[in-house]
Formats: sequence, structure tokens, C-alpha cells
Amino acid sequence: MSVRRLYNASLMGALALLVHLCMVDLAICSSNFTDQLALLSFKSSIKNDPNNVLSNWTKETNFCGWAGVLCSRHRQRVTSLHLRNMGLGGNISPHVGNLSFLQLLDLRNNSFFGHLTDEIGHLRHLKTLYLFHNMLEGNIPLGLHHCQRLEVISLEGNKFSGRIPKELNTLPSLRILALGQNELVGTIPPSFGNISSLEEFGLNANHIYGNVPTGLAQLPNLKIINLVFNYLTGPIPPTIFNKSSTAEIDLTSNAFSGNLPTNNGLFLPNLEVLLLDHNQLTRNIPSSLSNSFKLTANSSCQLVYWTNTKTFRQSKTPRTCIYLKIN
Ligand SMILES: *[C@@H]1O[C@H](CO)[C@@H](O)[C@H](O)[C@H]1NC(C)=O
Ligand SMILES: *[C@@H]1O[C@H](CO)[C@@H](O)[C@H](O)[C@H]1NC(C)=O
Ligand SMILES: *[C@@H]1O[C@H](CO)[C@@H](O)[C@H](O)[C@H]1NC(C)=O
Ligand SMILES: *[C@@H]1O[C@H](CO)[C@@H](O)[C@H](O)[C@H]1NC(C)=O
Ligand SMILES: *[C@@H]1O[C@H](CO)[C@@H](O)[C@H](O)[C@H]1NC(C)=O
Ligand SMILES: *[C@@H]1O[C@H](CO)[C@@H](O)[C@H](O)[C@H]1NC(C)=O
Ligand SMILES: *[C@@H]1O[C@H](CO)[C@@H](O)[C@H](O)[C@H]1NC(C)=O
Repeated sequence: MSVRRLYNASLMGALALLVHLCMVDLAICSSNFTDQLALLSFKSSIKNDPNNVLSNWTKETNFCGWAGVLCSRHRQRVTSLHLRNMGLGGNISPHVGNLSFLQLLDLRNNSFFGHLTDEIGHLRHLKTLYLFHNMLEGNIPLGLHHCQRLEVISLEGNKFSGRIPKELNTLPSLRILALGQNELVGTIPPSFGNISSLEEFGLNANHIYGNVPTGLAQLPNLKIINLVFNYLTGPIPPTIFNKSSTAEIDLTSNAFSGNLPTNNGLFLPNLEVLLLDHNQLTRNIPSSLSNSFKLTANSSCQLVYWTNTKTFRQSKTPRTCIYLKIN
């Protein structure tokens, strides 16, 4: 092989590698032009914009100045989309997945519908995903677990169905997983027992059955667990009542059975809210719990309210009070 042919061959090789890399990771080869294209396509799949929020999303101006768009200063790449409470209706274009530097996607409280497609998984820089209070349906895309920097996934109040992707357990920084008020079925993936960063887990008002995985209850940083209105059964894993991180446990309206732990299995120094009513629990409230809580009878709702005097906060809506009614 001549030197020249060798040179050509290696050049071709390098080119092929580059093309390959571009296909694998758009971020390496994309430009701010890709971002513009992605945003325009996002706009074009919006059918309803009652407040004309997107009226200045036009090619005539730099997209970094468009309403709701934030860019990185140097590279002029889109880092956040802030479009909450805008009354926007339409699909979320799969082209959003081309915003390679996006860190925050906030579309909460709009009327987005249709599926959230797997392209969302291309957003390798995504940290915060707020899609709550829309009308999105279909499965929670499996691809989400490719967004390894995710800290917040907030999808509550949509119509997501299917199972909870067990692969979300690979997200090393996930702090908040809020999936409440959807139409999810199946069980809580036992794999979630190793999301050690998890602080808030909300799955209220879905169709989830089975047990609460022991691993989940043991997570060292878990502060809030809300599983209200599901079909969960079995005993409540006792470790959940023996953790200084725990602030709020809401397991109302399931089919939990068995006993609450005895006094020496209770260590909840930071507890603010504990709701266990409408289950099939048998044991009475352990005295260590009733001693540390101030009891208030609420005749109008026929429930007993327990208030942790230490951390009672007036501001926290009706949930400031704790009610326990065991059978
Ligand atoms: C992309 O960035 C370059 C350099 O910062 C800038 O000149 C150009 O206008 C940008 N293109 C778009 C479509 O905004
Ligand atoms: C687009 O609209 C937003 C919100 O009204 C405004 O802050 C921004 O300056 C506008 N951008 C351009 C390029 O007109
Ligand atoms: C939701 O958005 C609408 C405007 O589309 C606004 O009127 C309403 O206050 C928002 N709701 C919340 C809870 O922010
Ligand atoms: C952007 O994403 C769409 C859909 O995911 C894809 O078909 C298209 O090739 C991408 N465009 C660019 C310019 O990257
Ligand atoms: C949990 O375990 C799975 C499988 O062993 C692993 O792939 C994942 O990275 C782990 N997650 C965390 C947050 O450590
Ligand atoms: C409660 O937790 C502490 C600290 O992790 C542990 O030493 C203790 O054995 C636990 N008690 C019960 C009854 O599980
Ligand atoms: C009693 O319960 C009702 C109904 O749940 C609630 O609206 C009210 O605020 C409660 N009163 C007190 C003093 O907590």
C-alpha cells in the first residue's frame, strides 16, 4: 500500500468515525442551528397558544431571545425552556431531543397531549423535567434513564399509563420522582431500592398493587413518600418508621395490613405528616408516637388529627395536620 493510499484510508476512517460519533451523540456535532431547528419544530407542533407566547419565536431574531428560552452565554446553546402556565396545547415534538445542552424543561400546567417520545432520552444534560399537570398519555419513555444527570422527574397529573420503568434506578442523582395522579399499573419496581439519592417519591392515585419494596423504605435520604390511593398490600416495611430522614409518610387508602412497629422500632425525629387511614392495619398507635404528637379531635371529618408540635408548620395547607385512624 502506498503512503498516499494509507493516508486516504486513514482519512476515510476518521471521517467514518466522526459520522458514527455524530449519530451516537448529537452533542458532539450539533450546532446552535440545530437548536433553532428543534425550537421551530417544537413551536410547529403546538396547536394552541392563547397568549401568543410563541409569537416572537421567528427566524428573524436570535432564538436565545425568544420567550421562555435561555441559552449558555458562550456557546449560544439552549439550556432551559421555561414555558409553565402558558395555556399551550399540542404535542411535545420529538425534536426537543435535539436540544443537546438542555438542562431544564419546564412545561408544567399546560395542555400538552399525546405521547412523550423516547427522543427525550437524548437529553444527556437534562437535570430537571417538569411536565406535571398536562394531558400526556402512553408509557413513561424508557429512554428517560439515558438522561443520567436527571435530578427531578415530575410527571404527576397526566394520563401516563403502563408500568413504571424499573430502569429509572440507574439515575445516580435522582432526588424527586413524582408520578402521582396518572394511570400507571403494576408494582413498584424493587430495583428502586438502590436510588440512594432519592428524597421524594410520589405515586399517589394510580393503580399500583403489590408490596412496598423493603429497599425503597430503607433509602437513607427519603423524606417524603406518598402512595395514597393505590392497591398496595402487605405490611408496611418497618424500616420506614425508623429513619431520621423521614418527614412525610402518606399511605392512606390502600390495603396495607399487619402491625405498626412497637415503640423501639420507632425513630422519626423529623416527622411532620403521617397518614395511614383507610387501610387494614391492626395494632394501635404505639405510645411513643402518641406521646410525641399532640392529639386533636376533628369532629367534622371524624378523624383524629395528630400534630407534631416540634415541626408543625401552619403554612403547609390542610396537610399540616397528621391524622391517624386505624380501623
Ligand atoms: C450561532 O452562533 C454563532 C456564533 O455565536 C452566531 O453568530 C449565530 O448567529 C448563531 N446562530 C443562530 C441560528 O442563532
Ligand atoms: C420575546 O418575548 C419575551 C416575552 O414577552 C421578551 O422577554 C423577549 O425580549 C422577546 N424577544 C424578542 C427577540 O423580541
Ligand atoms: C395554570 O395556568 C393557568 C394559565 O394557563 C393559570 O391561570 C393558572 O393559575 C395556573 N395554575 C397554577 C396552579 O399555577
Ligand atoms: C432532530 O430530531 C428529529 C426527530 O427526533 C430527527 O428526525 C432529525 O434528524 C433531527 N434533526 C437534526 C437537525 O438534528
Ligand atoms: C442500581 O443497580 C443497578 C443494577 O445493579 C445499577 O445499574 C445502577 O447503576 C444502580 N443505581 C444506583 C443509583 O446506584
Ligand atoms: C432502627 O435503626 C437503628 C439505626 O439504623 C438500628 O440500629 C435499629 O436496630 C433499628 N431498630 C429496629 C427495631 O429496626
Ligand atoms: C377538620 O376536617 C375538615 C375536613 O377534612 C377540615 O376542612 C378542617 O380544616 C379540619 N379542622 C381542623 C381544626 O383541623
